[in-house]
Amino acid sequence: MASPYIETALCRHGDSLTMSFDVYEIRQQFPILSRTVHNKPLVYLDNAATTQKPQVVIDALVDYYSNYNSNVHRGAHSLADEATRKYEGARDTIAEFIQANNRREVIWTTGTTESINIVAHGLAQMLTCDDQVLVTEMEHHANLVTWQQACKASGASLVIAPIDDDGELIIDQYLALINNNTRLAALPHASNALGSLNPIKELTTEIKKRSDNSALVLIDGAQGIAHSLVNVQEIGCDFYAFSSHKLYGPTGIGVLWGKEQLLESWPVWQTGGEMIAEVTYTDAKWNTLPYRLEAGTPNIAGVIGFGAAVSWYAKLDLKAVLAHEEKVLSYATQLAADFTGLTVIGSAAKKVPVLSFVMDRGHPADIGFILDRQGVAIRTGHHCAEPLMNRLNIPGTARASFALYNTCEEVDALFNALKKVKQMLA
Ligand SMILES: Cc1ncc(COP(=O)(O)O)c(C=O)c1O
Repeated sequence: MASPYIETALCRHGDSLTMSFDVYEIRQQFPILSRTVHNKPLVYLDNAATTQKPQVVIDALVDYYSNYNSNVHRGAHSLADEATRKYEGARDTIAEFIQANNRREVIWTTGTTESINIVAHGLAQMLTCDDQVLVTEMEHHANLVTWQQACKASGASLVIAPIDDDGELIIDQYLALINNNTRLAALPHASNALGSLNPIKELTTEIKKRSDNSALVLIDGAQGIAHSLVNVQEIGCDFYAFSSHKLYGPTGIGVLWGKEQLLESWPVWQTGGEMIAEVTYTDAKWNTLPYRLEAGTPNIAGVIGFGAAVSWYAKLDLKAVLAHEEKVLSYATQLAADFTGLTVIGSAAKKVPVLSFVMDRGHPADIGFILDRQGVAIRTGHHCAEPLMNRLNIPGTARASFALYNTCEEVDALFNALKKVKQMLA
């Protein structure tokens, strides 16, 4: 049945409209990209940390606060009605974008971290000391520390699947770790530190088969959502977690997608207003999905901004967008290979557009500092993946990460700036 809230007809993944992708036209839509830093044109290559926002998203936020700021769901006035329609319309937009079975499966959270915590909080109550939780060596702390805590609280074992020196999951060893005691396999769609893109659909099928369906599968989609065509039903996982700010939307808002049957009985995360159906002085009954997992006044502006971001993004020719990102990554990888004294960290066969590297001379922090003076913004350090850096025997990396608005000219600017780094640190 059509949702009463839906306002935008999505052209998902560019299927029904034939459009080309013009990176220079796209750049015009991002006001920040025309600024300078230290009197140099900004070259923003820190997109795995957060993406910049197109004008339509900025406008949606301003429009909400300027014209219909109000709380949602409870109001008996026009502003509240307008805010509720836009807010719930965004849920429809995102449900359609990830091909959820229905809108009740889309739970608003503050981001990937909170989404994973909701699952971990519930699972910790179900785990026993015979159970195992399987993660990988390439996890972001958000998908590692949460499971460490859940295992500590319940006595379950945390099992870590190895990667090879290219930063790729060793598939046969991964599969060998799955058994009837595996209660959850939590894995990243893509590594934020190395870029490695995991075959999540094939792995999910195998995890279910080898665990006799005892294992739930959670995909940390923080890095996958903006660089692949996500169809949660096709993947077959139980949970998919992602953040708006990595997909051109505002910070402080994200999604836990989960299968409806699971979410219906999932232990409530926070209690209070909105998530209840009935309250007495001594007890309470919980609301239906999605509200039972969304306590308190939500991030209304964030949700509306996220809806605007996804409406905008989904109307692009996404196959062309992904091909463009691949071209930029492959150009950067080629320049890196020709750059003496620079070693790329993470050479998986399939990658999202992330180029992590170290240099013979220069701590990553120094590289980042010198690049910044030349207008080039990258990220340096352990990228919230400290155990992964230890596994690779490095203190950290310098990481250039690309988005749909980056160009090969900007890759040239990065490598020209790196030449300067080399000179200065010689
Ligand atoms: C792979 C991965 N997982 C989880 C997170 C956490 O996302 P957030 O900070 O938006 O909750 C990030 C953020 O960089 C990430 O890259």
